[in-house]
Amino acid sequence: MTTGKGIFITGTNTAVGKTVVTRGVARLLTNKGVDVAAIKPVESGVDQVEHSDAFAICRAAGRGHSPASVTAYSFRTPVSPHLAAAIENRHIDEDIVVSFLKGWLSQAEVVLAEGAGGLLVPLNSRITYADAIAQTRYTLLIVAPDILGTINATLLTIEAARARGIAVAGVVLNRATSSDRFGNREAISCFGRVPILGTVPELDAEDDLLADKLEGNLDLERFFSLLLS
Ligand SMILES: Nc1ncnc2c1ncn2[C@@H]1O[C@H](COP(=O)(O)OP(=O)(O)OP(=O)(O)O)[C@@H](O)[C@H]1O
Ligand SMILES: [Mg+2]
Repeated sequence: MTTGKGIFITGTNTAVGKTVVTRGVARLLTNKGVDVAAIKPVESGVDQVEHSDAFAICRAAGRGHSPASVTAYSFRTPVSPHLAAAIENRHIDEDIVVSFLKGWLSQAEVVLAEGAGGLLVPLNSRITYADAIAQTRYTLLIVAPDILGTINATLLTIEAARARGIAVAGVVLNRATSSDRFGNREAISCFGRVPILGTVPELDAEDDLLADKLEGNLDLERFFSLLLS
């Protein structure tokens, strides 16, 4: 049985670019011959499958997985998963989410799992997503927008992860300015003791273009050594 490397892609908030980065990394690794699966264990706000994150990241990974197969829980209501489940008279079982994350590790060399919102979103009335990740061997990749306020939000995310024993692989700054205008790169790497693995500029969102752009903006050497560690 293969045991793949699991990377959990979280963000400092919702809508910060987790899907864009997941798609770009998935396509980039696929182009380099790595066997990648991209999954979205819990998704809310799914009005049509074609608009879902699961659909977008599956397509980028190019393995032919169906969106349904890469998702354990999908909700129509566009709110936090715990609330979406309650509104739709359902319940998220954390053991199912943990088993789902673990199970995919035997399916590919690299598993990219996109979170929902930020790290501490509740899955139900008892636990947050972070508590579920802590029960797996996934390491964390944090996507953060390169804006004012990101130092604090990113350092809080790093602390919350480490407090639960989750390893933090690094941070990708999204929609990055060419200069470190807000001091995000320097302060996050210094105070957070994490590498800035990439700075993704404002870009057009086609999958192939995304991979090319990411290749030029990701610290590939560091990224691949992370995958091998
Ligand atoms: N680097 C970028 N350049 C241009 N547009 C971007 C970039 N990053 C993100 N976007 C756009 O911003 C929006 C939010 O990005 P995205 O869907 O990746 O966020 P997310 O963190 O995955 O959100 P969610 O919490 O809903 O999963 C999307 O419309 C996306 O196309
Ligand atoms: Mg997303």
